Amino acid sequence: MIDRTRLQHLLDHERATFAERNPLSAEAYGAAANLLGSVPMTWMNKRAGGFPLYLATADGARVTDLDGHEYVDLCLGDTGAMAGHSPRPVVEAVRHRLADVGGLTAMMPTEDAAWVGAELARRFGLPYWSFSLTATDANRWAMRLARALTDRPKILFHSYCYHGSVDESLIVLDGAGRPASRPGNVGAPCDVLLTSRVAEFNDLDGLERELAHGDVAAVLIEPALTNIGIVLPEPGYLDGVRELSRASGTLLIYDETHTFSAGPGGATARWALRPDMLTIGKAIAGGVPCGAYGLSAELAESVLGRADLDLVDMGGVGGTLAGNPVSMAAARACLGEVLTESAFAHMTALTTRLADGLRAAIVAHGLSWTVSQLGARVEYRFADPAPRNGTESYAAADPELDDYLHVFAANRGVLLTPFHNMALTCPQTAVADVDRYRDVFTESLSHLAS
Ligand SMILES: Cc1ncc(COP(=O)(O)O)c(C=O)c1O
Repeated sequence: MIDRTRLQHLLDHERATFAERNPLSAEAYGAAANLLGSVPMTWMNKRAGGFPLYLATADGARVTDLDGHEYVDLCLGDTGAMAGHSPRPVVEAVRHRLADVGGLTAMMPTEDAAWVGAELARRFGLPYWSFSLTATDANRWAMRLARALTDRPKILFHSYCYHGSVDESLIVLDGAGRPASRPGNVGAPCDVLLTSRVAEFNDLDGLERELAHGDVAAVLIEPALTNIGIVLPEPGYLDGVRELSRASGTLLIYDETHTFSAGPGGATARWALRPDMLTIGKAIAGGVPCGAYGLSAELAESVLGRADLDLVDMGGVGGTLAGNPVSMAAARACLGEVLTESAFAHMTALTTRLADGLRAAIVAHGLSWTVSQLGARVEYRFADPAPRNGTESYAAADPELDDYLHVFAANRGVLLTPFHNMALTCPQTAVADVDRYRDVFTESLSHLAS
């Protein structure tokens, strides 16, 4: 379908434009000699343009770079900034905590934490909550508790899932449908097959087969895959997951870090899901580091009733800075005043408009691509019909095409998530912003076709 020579030519041209447009970002990147890979975190080397754009300012749905360009930001920190950049209530709550009353970290609880716990309980339906600084840690600790409570060693994941830098999750089904270490799994502490099992998304038979071994403490999954394109659950799939996990004595943990985009209570509230535990991070404190995990009443009782579980000191669930006063103040402001019902209604409506626009452009250019939406997030995949699972979606990847579409958009003032073709809206995103991306996307396809 795609003329590869033409694609390479267009990509080279866009990269040259990118280099010309961004001399100050290039210079800053070149000067970061003492950073590993020249970036503050190695994943920042994932960039379509050849070097990362350096952030100058950020406000609401916009960022500017060092070279003075303004962008409609549809990356939004890959969900960390789904509340928009520096939302005023969060800024004011953090400023108040730091400047008026003090206390960045103190090893003492604040009343904000109880408010946030109650709000998470109201939104997600799980009554007890504990905090981390990242979603990765929320997952680590949820898994640890699940293993302790069930006395089983393994965690089951979906093939091509992503739950943060969690060793156990780096498992896939290989070309022959056998479990294997995910390519790129560096420095693993042991063979991932010792710690984990894997099934395809939307495959209840595969899940049943794996759970029948009786050694899985928990199924840790997203209710829709969001890190290999968006793969939505087929009717009945999530009900089946609940039934099979319950029948096999396996706990069910939903990671709502990205699927929070589905609404104020994530996919859990939107689809009336009933997990035993839930993990989340990224956006809940408006971008201030904060993760959380919630437990059902029954699980909380079991955890607290087990005198042999050392949850206070050396038991492997910890984090000196977790639940700190600033994270809690930020989460209270974000959930109380920013990521509200009406904000989600606005974001979802805009994203639907964007999804329709992307679909129209794809159809107009005769491409066999599909668009999937989950509330405030939308993503296209180079496959039609839409992939049903992670393996199918992985097979539809085209990194060169991704790079072209990303750098083309960046050169015209629209930022996308480097790891996805995902576009996310925030409360401050406007109709003109999503229409701008639709137009830029349409133009990029026209160049590809002509
Ligand atoms: C579903 C999911 N869970 C967990 C994480 C990890 O988040 P963090 O890197 O903030 O710990 C991610 C990151 O992309 C994610 O997509």
